[in-house]
Amino acid sequence: MSVATSWRYPEIASSYPEIASLAGRDFLTLADLTSAEIWGLLAVSRDLKARHKTRRDPALLKGVVAGLLFRKPSTRTRVSFEAGILQLGGHSLFLTDRDLQLSRGESIRDTAAVLSSYLDLLVVRTFAHAEVEELAHYATIPVINALTDRFHPCQALADVFTIWEEKGDLRGVTLAYLGDGNNVAHSLLMAGAKLGMKVRVASPPGYAPDAQIVEAARAAAGATGGSVEVLEDPREAAFGADCLYTDVWTSMGQEAEAEQRRRAFLPYQLNDELLKLARPGALVLHCLPAHYGEEITPSVAYSPQSAIFTQAENRLHVQKAIMAALLSGTGEA
Ligand code: CP
Ligand code: NVA
Repeated sequence: MSVATSWRYPEIASSYPEIASLAGRDFLTLADLTSAEIWGLLAVSRDLKARHKTRRDPALLKGVVAGLLFRKPSTRTRVSFEAGILQLGGHSLFLTDRDLQLSRGESIRDTAAVLSSYLDLLVVRTFAHAEVEELAHYATIPVINALTDRFHPCQALADVFTIWEEKGDLRGVTLAYLGDGNNVAHSLLMAGAKLGMKVRVASPPGYAPDAQIVEAARAAAGATGGSVEVLEDPREAAFGADCLYTDVWTSMGQEAEAEQRRRAFLPYQLNDELLKLARPGALVLHCLPAHYGEEITPSVAYSPQSAIFTQAENRLHVQKAIMAALLSGTGEA
């Protein structure tokens, strides 16, 4: 892990001192960040979004070479990282495991050591969360989790940023997540709890979020005035909520279970009926890609209340903030 000392763009450092502590660190799960650090990233994201909209992207990643090591498909994450890196003056290399010696058995440890000697940053999408932890352990450069089976922190940061933009605050805002207690649900639980939101997750028996993550989120919520509820009834979760969120019923790697999952999750579909139970004007969220007619109906996904494409766009802005924070001070001053 590189130890960063100063910002290349001192005005950002002085405006956002709460994220100075992220310099040189990894971004594997929001559980590792304090509430202040997450709020700081949201503020930097807002700044970078405004700059991008007015074609004033700062060259925060000038000279940076980032590797994107992806073992699963991706549209949003890959393209938003690559575009964001280019817009901030850096360069990215897309690395699929198929093309690396990893596919022929080279170890994670050696891969991490070697890539660290060429790159400034590694963005990783893989299956087991332990793999990204191992990469981060042996890498001497910051590692960003671009989705594992357990967490999707870049997504959750973009989601809370979207809610913050749309609702004007996060504290006390009720977010109801309906469906699989998966990577997206886990990261939303952590993000929401750390930002004082009231997070409800409704899942069928056997598909609830991981109990340890729920406990960690509850502990975090205790310190922020937020709350965490794990339910089975999707109607109870949706009732009076400010935001309704869903994700696919079958995540990448679970394809063999698709039929069984379709049956279990049918009552959790985010449709017009469920939307009516939420607060009027409630925000509809989905990380995408969506399976229309399964976890969400087109009528809801394309309704005026839907923010699904804003969420996707905001991946670009929040990931720029994450990269700028982790890489601050590691280049020319
Ligand atoms: N939401 C998300 O991570 O999308 P991709 O799988 O397309 O990157
Ligand atoms: N839960 C989904 C998210 C995709 C962005 C998956 O892991 O496939």
